[in-house]
Amino acid sequence: MTNSTAKLEFGGDNREYEIRKGTVGPDVIDIGSLYKDTGMFTYDPGFTSTASCESKITYIDGDEGVLLHRGYPIDQLAEQGDFLEVCYLLLYGELPTRTQKEDFDYRVTRHTMLHEQMSRFFTGFRRDAHPMAVMCGMVGALSAFYHDSTDISDPRQRMIASIRMIAKMPTIAAMAYKYHIGQPFVYPRNELSYAANFLHMCFAVPCEDYKVNPVLARAMERIFILHADHEQNASTSTVRLAGSSGANPFACIAAGIACLWGPAHGGANEAALNMLSEIGSVDRIPEYIERAKDKDDPFRLMGFGHRVYKNYDPRAKIMQKTCHEVLQELGIKDDAQLDIAIELERIALTDDYFIEKKLYPNIDFYSGITLKALGFPTTMFTVLFALARTVGWIAQWKEMIEDPNQKIGRPRQLYTGATQRDYVPMERR
Ligand code: SDX
Repeated sequence: MTNSTAKLEFGGDNREYEIRKGTVGPDVIDIGSLYKDTGMFTYDPGFTSTASCESKITYIDGDEGVLLHRGYPIDQLAEQGDFLEVCYLLLYGELPTRTQKEDFDYRVTRHTMLHEQMSRFFTGFRRDAHPMAVMCGMVGALSAFYHDSTDISDPRQRMIASIRMIAKMPTIAAMAYKYHIGQPFVYPRNELSYAANFLHMCFAVPCEDYKVNPVLARAMERIFILHADHEQNASTSTVRLAGSSGANPFACIAAGIACLWGPAHGGANEAALNMLSEIGSVDRIPEYIERAKDKDDPFRLMGFGHRVYKNYDPRAKIMQKTCHEVLQELGIKDDAQLDIAIELERIALTDDYFIEKKLYPNIDFYSGITLKALGFPTTMFTVLFALARTVGWIAQWKEMIEDPNQKIGRPRQLYTGATQRDYVPMERR
């Protein structure tokens, strides 16, 4: 691709910087030498106009509401694929052949067990600890047990660590849930699919057989696919930044989990359901719509708005459809929170404030209702998001490690603090 340049003129100086084109989406201005050339930094808190890396994994067109994983549209993957197939695609860049898929499934399935000693870590947590706090601790602790896959310079170890993370997250998440509710841990079952295995580990009890509902297992697979990766969002950027220092992959994923927990990010699914509970009835929606528009009120409609999507989040459409399927399968006819969500969406999408600011439902708006119907408490919602996003974090981490140009991430700042001054002894303060 021929590249043009961007001209920067200041203080009588003229500089030109290369404009690089991707295969699709916005071009970038390569300003890597700007500080060396000009003694100035760019300033972009929140990185609203900054590309932090080059990537081939996921493309989002926020204006058109398009999400592609290695070029494949999210709706096609969610409708036709299974989660491990999407994991393979994100990690290797191509859809697997039947043989490759069978081999990948076999490898993941046989890494689902956790080192038995790690089960004792849970007793160190309070039973009422938020499961995301447990996930941060448990995933970080994996690097204390799996030393044979922490040498990030070894491609074989990188792939083993990747498989281990994808395989063990459902086990750890299910154990966090069981510990939270005071039930015994349930071991993974090799004959079950990824999502069915997770549901079995969460909802089976030793006293009786538990048969996973195939419709719910399919819905769970689809929910995992919808959450698998999403370009350079806050938690993925956290994983990349942690990985850029050479930290082991387990520690990097633990950092990603911590970032995802925030209510502005992955914590929004839990916050959205809590918001629907707080609204309580359809006739109180206008009051909350006004609060969301009030600059002096910190309240925001959780599950609405997005840094990139200025159109409907394509995942939210599929999540809404999945929500109806799950409620129908479970015979849940009149879910009050779903009624509030549908009416809230209808009102917001016709309100000038939301139209002007291009605020649409995002993936977190309907996921909470679905996960609650599946039997999960709200405190587990972001855990499920982290479970699914682990493959995206790992794929982006691998891409960064394998990028020959990668270096430690180290942003600069605009300093507005005190200039140099001398220490004042206590008696003279
Ligand atoms: C996820 O990045 C990703 O890809 C994330 C994610 C992924 O898969 O990884 O998609 C997952 O995190 C989805 C987003 C979940 N978060 C929420 O639902 C929380 C509620 N949403 C907002 O906090 C907000 O929309 C953000 C954080 C999602 C995006 O914020 P931005 O891009 O920084 O936008 P902004 O805060 O500058 O908002 C622009 C304007 C502001 O008004 P002005 O200052 O211009 O007057 O829109 C307003 C905001 O006040 N606004 C909202 C709103 N979201 C933005 N007003 C009311 N309710 C909202 N939800």
